[in-house]
Amino acid sequence: MEDDRIGITVTVNGKTHRAEVEPRELLVYFLRERLGLTGTHVGCDTSQCGACTVHLDGRAVKSCTVLAVQADGAEVTTIEGLARGGELHPVQAAFHEKHGLQCGFCTPGMIMTAAYLLAQNPAPSETEIRHALEGNLCRCTGYVNIVEAIRHAAENMGGAHVSR
Ligand code: FES
Ligand code: FES
Repeated sequence: MEDDRIGITVTVNGKTHRAEVEPRELLVYFLRERLGLTGTHVGCDTSQCGACTVHLDGRAVKSCTVLAVQADGAEVTTIEGLARGGELHPVQAAFHEKHGLQCGFCTPGMIMTAAYLLAQNPAPSETEIRHALEGNLCRCTGYVNIVEAIRHAAENMGGAHVSR
């Protein structure tokens, strides 16, 4: 009902948005349907696949598990906000170089998770990379090139802190 709507203010990829949302509206649908940021994918809607991963106040979260009202006052970064000044983020570039994708459906979530991992742990081991990806499913690649891409990104970033 219209009366149930709640006003929220969310900064997404550096731009502040004010909106009225239903209490049950999920952040992923707010991003995709209200803001048109369809790079954040919906693979399951049940917290399984990780395709909807974004950064909420710098932490990687599955945006299908977050209500839009919970993002009130927060900063959100989506895959559309990762590149800067026309340059791909190093994790994006590494996925491209190392062929870390096939159909690409899981890729935005993989990249957002990987960017968060490297912000926390600039030189992860393969085990740590695989552990970080536990919540992100890929039905195409077998993960080998995804892990390789993240390792390559870590090398290219030289341990730099990358998350917004
Ligand atoms: S759509 Fe969010 S985890 Fe699958
Ligand atoms: S590249 Fe197709 S689901 Fe991962």
